[in-house]
Amino acid sequence: MKYDRMTFWLHVALAFAVSAQMMFGLVMDAPRPGVPIGGTGSSFFEIHRIFGPVVLVVLCAHWLWQLSGRASNGMRSLYPWAFRRAAAASTPSSGKKRLGTLSGAIQGIGLLIATLMGATGLVMFFVMTGDGGLPANLSAMREIHSMAAVFLWIYLGFHLLISLLLHI
Ligand code: HEM
Repeated sequence: MKYDRMTFWLHVALAFAVSAQMMFGLVMDAPRPGVPIGGTGSSFFEIHRIFGPVVLVVLCAHWLWQLSGRASNGMRSLYPWAFRRAAAASTPSSGKKRLGTLSGAIQGIGLLIATLMGATGLVMFFVMTGDGGLPANLSAMREIHSMAAVFLWIYLGFHLLISLLLHI
């Protein structure tokens, strides 16, 4: 599929921002109540915390562009299951086209998971105390954030695989 320039550059920005944020997530030491903090791991957490809202801004720009109806791969390509009738009308004929449809749908799911991570991260950005404490009613944010990270890693693996298959 041919992407318009804006989608292309937003995708490049998103790929760099999310991958960097995931890498910080791997090497950092997030604070936990009762556990002493300090060292490089804590500095990486500080970078992760500050960089999170930046990733969220890129994600929002991506969403706005897709929703504007001007993107070459709009909501229909990202969420074919939500637009089943339109998708059926243009049933892909070749294996490669089918792979292209699958790749669009996988990107849509990835965008949702990354947005969930950004949203839970943003809540923690505002309410987490210096020692990693969270109010009792928001403690699930940390678990959801961690669980979503597992799915985002799986997604990144699939995304890479399908992109490679589409280019061979
Ligand atoms: C789109 C933005 C974000 C992405 C993609 C992201 C990604 C990640 C990843 C990959 C991990 C490691 C998960 C694990 O190994 O269990 C993580 C952990 C964490 N992130 Fe984020 N993050 C984002 C934004 C934020 C923000 C803004 C905060 C603000 C405080 C934050 C706070 C945390 C915390 C506290 C953990 C540790 C969770 C735990 O203890 O298991 N994240 N994040």
